[in-house]
This record gives sequence, C-alpha cells and structure tokens, in this order.
Amino acid sequence: MVLVAGSANLDFVVRAPHIPAPGETVLGGGLQTFAGGKGANQALACARAGGVATHMLLALGKDAFAAPIEASLRGAGVTLHTLHPIGVPTGTAFICVDEHGENAITVAPGANACLQAEHLPPLQGFSHLLMQLEIPLPTVAAYAHAAKAADVRVVLNAAPAQTLGQELLAAVDLLVLNEGELRALAGDGGSVLDCLACLPCPAVVVTLGARGCVAREGNAFHAQASFQVPVVDTTGAGDTFCGTLVAALAGQHTMAHALRQASAAAALTCTQMGAQSSVPYAADVAAFLIQASQANEAQSLLALRQFAGLP
Ligand code: RIB
Repeated sequence: MVLVAGSANLDFVVRAPHIPAPGETVLGGGLQTFAGGKGANQALACARAGGVATHMLLALGKDAFAAPIEASLRGAGVTLHTLHPIGVPTGTAFICVDEHGENAITVAPGANACLQAEHLPPLQGFSHLLMQLEIPLPTVAAYAHAAKAADVRVVLNAAPAQTLGQELLAAVDLLVLNEGELRALAGDGGSVLDCLACLPCPAVVVTLGARGCVAREGNAFHAQASFQVPVVDTTGAGDTFCGTLVAALAGQHTMAHALRQASAAAALTCTQMGAQSSVPYAADVAAFLIQASQANEAQSLLALRQFAGLP
C-alpha cells in the first residue's frame, strides 16, 4: 500500500505561442481547468498504474475548486485523507503551455501550506510514502522521519527545487529529481553519474527529459531511454513518472522494470493536454510498450549512456 502526502491544485491553463518573458504580455488561446498538483498527480498515476492500493494525504479549501480534484482522485480509486483548513482556499496553479508543449507554472499553495506534522495518518500497512516539495519543508521532513521510524520506504520527488538539509536526505530511501534539481543538490561539476554517486540516499533516479532517465541503486546503475511521442503538453509527465515508478516498486518489481513502466507512462502523459486528465491507465501503458520500437529504444539508450557518463 502506498501513501502519497502532498499538494493538490486546480490548474488554470492557457496555450500560447510562447511563454512570456518578464514584462511581456502574450495573447493565448482559451482558458482550460484541470485537476493537478504534484502530489495529487502522483497519487492518481500510482493508482492508475494498478497493482497497489493508493492513499493520499492532502489539504483542500471548502470551495468549488476542491470538487474536480476530489472527483478525479476518487474516480481513480485513491483513498483520501483530507484536511479542510478553515478559511483557506484550495491550491491553484497558473500554467502557460507553449507550442512545443513546454510549460511555465506559478503555484498559489493555499490549503497545501496548512499540512503539518500532526496530520500524518497512522502508517500501519503502508510500504511506501511518496512526497514532493509543494507542502512545507518541515512537514516533509517530519513525515519522512516518522516513516523511517515505522519502516516505511520514503520516496521524495525533489520538485520544485529547494535546498534540502542532510538530515532530510538521510531519511530518504529513494530520491527522484530532474537534472536541474540534481545539479542544484550535488553541484554543477562532473557527469550525471558523478552527481548521482555523491548523493547520500541509497537510491537516486534522475529524469533527463527527452533523453530518458538514469538510476543509481546502491552501487549499481540503470539507464532507460525515453520513448518518442508527439508532444502536446508536458505538464504532469514528471509526476506520472514518479507515481508509476512507486507503484511498480511497491508491487515488488525491479528498478529496471519500474523505470521502463514509468518512462512509458510519462511519455503517454505528454500526448494530451492537462495533468491528471492525461495520466494513462496500466492497459494503455502495456499496449504502448508492445508497439514501441526496440530499435529506437536501443539507439536512444546508447546516446543516453554517453550523455550520463555510463560505461
Ligand atoms: O507537475 C505539474 C503540476 O505542478 C501541476 O499540475 C501544477 O498544479 C503544479 O503543482
């Protein structure tokens, strides 16, 4: 059983020819809203990956923005542990998506900022706790230490990037981050492999966008090439990766298998608009992997290994 503790937002999304520079105004298309938030996206991805029961600890306002988020998570079978702080709105995110599917996101945390150490539900029966950094950092640290003490594996997606103390990192069993977040934590110098090797966590996964991802598990390294898809909107792809990865690991699969499932699910997320609206089901991922070209994968893997400094 997996517990996700983290943020839930209602996403307000506009497509535009490009993401505005500071001081610039850009005319975009129509406004769309989607259920989002890194925590909620990851919980939904974990549930849709199947094979493991998913619970989520979240905080929502008592307002109209909460309803689509609750409906989306409940529809995927996620069991909710919801805090409703009085007089605080549901978290919101303002997202501009450019014509290449890349985005820029500003989050107004709202109720997400109210999650505190004492809100963690009893951890009995959970094998994994999955968190991100859109709730207060002291809360993340308190949950990580409580999980460690209860023998629950702690998975932290270090997004959005923040400075993390050694004490928090010491409680993390698996750290998942992108290249920018990796270099912010491990320093700019050296190859991806060097950076992975110098982090204190027992296992680290770095996602490298269109190149794929690399993992260190103890002293062993794994590389998984990305899958090429027509990109519509990359929002939520990283979250789908994390949720799918943890579902596979909680289902006792190997890291190599989990990376492949997560990469395929993340690729499929990029083919549709929105965060939770575009997270695939296990059957979609299975069908996609059957038709994925092994020749392309092998070629991309070679390039990825070279880029990351893997022999
Ligand atoms: O990772 C994508 C998510 O980041 C969006 O759904 C938005 O809500 C922000 O939390």
